[in-house]
Amino acid sequence: MKAIIVTDQAAGTAGMQLTERPEPEAGINDVVVRVQASGFTRDELTWPPTWTDRQGGHRTPSIPGHEVAGVVTALGYGTTGLSVGQRVFGLTDWYRNGTLAEYVAVEARNLAALPGDVEFAVGASLPMPGLTAWQGLFDHGHLTAGQSVLVHGAAGVVGSMAAQLAREHGAYVIGTGRAAHRRMALDFGAQEFIDLENDVLEDVGGVDLVFDVLGGEIAKRSAGLIRAGGTLVTIAGPVQTRPVNVLTVDFVVESDRAQLGEIVRRVRDGRLRTHIGEVTTLADAVAAFNATQRINGKTIVRVRS
Ligand SMILES: NC(=O)c1ccc[n+]([C@@H]2O[C@H](COP(=O)([O-])OP(=O)(O)OC[C@H]3O[C@@H](n4cnc5c(N)ncnc54)[C@H](OP(=O)(O)O)[C@@H]3O)[C@@H](O)[C@H]2O)c1
Repeated sequence: MKAIIVTDQAAGTAGMQLTERPEPEAGINDVVVRVQASGFTRDELTWPPTWTDRQGGHRTPSIPGHEVAGVVTALGYGTTGLSVGQRVFGLTDWYRNGTLAEYVAVEARNLAALPGDVEFAVGASLPMPGLTAWQGLFDHGHLTAGQSVLVHGAAGVVGSMAAQLAREHGAYVIGTGRAAHRRMALDFGAQEFIDLENDVLEDVGGVDLVFDVLGGEIAKRSAGLIRAGGTLVTIAGPVQTRPVNVLTVDFVVESDRAQLGEIVRRVRDGRLRTHIGEVTTLADAVAAFNATQRINGKTIVRVRS
């Protein structure tokens, strides 16, 4: 099968190559998915599981991309809950070969049914940002209606999902980003916008929850804005400060079938909009990932037309 591989961590996206790889086989509780569309997050190439297995051994050449939408073509021994021919989408294991390929083997529990009226490209754009936003706001942030939430990077891929979900949940949403992101962040549901390049973050006053995607100084300064009993949730790694009376959570997203269902239901009924920046093909994907122009939104690879 055709697949994009990486072998050299230092090379970044420049080291990606489109090549031939053996088709994967379904292990116990796996399915094989014929990939229709794939999502790739640039930072994956800095994450240890792209390069090592769970024992710390090298596992290159590895196939990046962990979001998938496609059709089940085979079931592994003992697999239940999905069937051959079913449309599915989900988030795949960080330590296994990924979705920038014509086929991928995935544990069935990491996938959910993709309704027939949701395009594969949309399906592949939802798992990472949708689940990350959902888990950050609700599982870890315990957001309730009427609370205020500061969403960093609210015009970005994850932040735009978090802003929409928080708003729908009845929270007051303050988005942040660069000056040029104001309109987009407000369109994605933020009621106020802080331009981190020109405004003073501290002017926000107190908030109940910070949803951080930026880390560093911004995360540290944001911790000081949280009311007693509030929460700082970050997806950018450990925060350098842990204020008293504030819960600080840094987490890595996990796949969850029920949550995928909640997310796609909202997309179908118009409550949630995905943030796709461009759609490319497997043949053009390496060039797209290496383009010098920064694309706002997610790059989706249409593996089959
Ligand atoms: N832990 C997890 O489970 C998990 C899950 C998903 C993603 N992540 C990580 O989360 C981060 C965000 O992912 P994403 O896909 O949402 O990225 P993204 O689409 O690039 O979103 C980040 C947004 O913040 C903006 N931004 C960055 N630096 C800024 C600054 N100094 N001031 C103002 N705005 C700034 C970006 O603008 P520009 O594009 O102009 O820079 C962009 O709009 C990445 O590091 C990703 O690897 C972690």
